[in-house]
Amino acid sequence: MDRPYTILSCAMSVDGRIDDTGPQRLRLSNEADFAEIDELRAECDAILVGAGTLRADDPRLLVRSPLLRRRRREQGRTENLLKAVITRSGEIDPQARLFSTGDAGAVVYTTGAGVEIARSALERRPDDDPPADVVDAGDPPTAKAVLADLADRGVSRLLVEGGGHVHTLFLTSGLVDELRLAIAPFFVGEEDAPRFVLPGAFPHTPDTPMRLLEARALGEVAVLRYRLGEGEGR
Ligand SMILES: NC(=O)c1ccc[n+]([C@@H]2O[C@H](COP(=O)([O-])OP(=O)(O)OC[C@H]3O[C@@H](n4cnc5c(N)ncnc54)[C@H](OP(=O)(O)O)[C@@H]3O)[C@@H](O)[C@H]2O)c1
Repeated sequence: MDRPYTILSCAMSVDGRIDDTGPQRLRLSNEADFAEIDELRAECDAILVGAGTLRADDPRLLVRSPLLRRRRREQGRTENLLKAVITRSGEIDPQARLFSTGDAGAVVYTTGAGVEIARSALERRPDDDPPADVVDAGDPPTAKAVLADLADRGVSRLLVEGGGHVHTLFLTSGLVDELRLAIAPFFVGEEDAPRFVLPGAFPHTPDTPMRLLEARALGEVAVLRYRLGEGEGR
């Protein structure tokens, strides 16, 4: 299948939680890690999150560094990445910051039934917002359909940035090439805190492990990089 090289990036506590149950997003990373993630974003063509992350965090998913944005411009690319959201219901907030920021537009992947719901929500946005498409990616939406559509849009490198349901969907699909984890030096310890992944049939088992590419300290944060598929070299 023609699909983008896919990198999944996540910050978690040592007990595998990607947030706590409080109203503010939990900081699981440090400035050095944020800067590396910004570099990683700048090297990609698209960035994808789930509707749960959109609702919880209202992220903008921009390249933060003016230098990195300039480098992209000089390469003839947009300053920011194409943003992709995946929703089963199609119920997305048209006021979400993701849709009003950036210069590369957005795509919402949903089910057949979700298409009209998402389209009518997006029609309520101001006319000068960046363009946003809605695509039927199956019921439930699949990673395979999302990746095929992104490839058709010229995306050759995709960054998946959460949350737990989307991690599970992509990692169980076997269509992720690289996993980057940032491990914060603390526990969350709450039963209902969102997890890195939910139970599922992951292709990487004790018999078919991932390949560890790198383990390194960024201050007190541990960064682990794994190769999952054949894909690129180091
Ligand atoms: N630490 C990190 O690196 C990091 C990164 C991102 C997010 N987060 C945290 O993650 C939490 C959100 O995670 P989450 O797991 O609740 O949400 P999520 O994975 O972002 O999104 C889940 C949503 O995806 C949609 N979806 C589409 N296809 C699906 C499928 N086949 N299976 C399941 N869901 C599908 C559903 O949307 P509908 O409900 O619209 O149908 C579902 O509610 C937040 O607390 C956020 O702060 C942490």
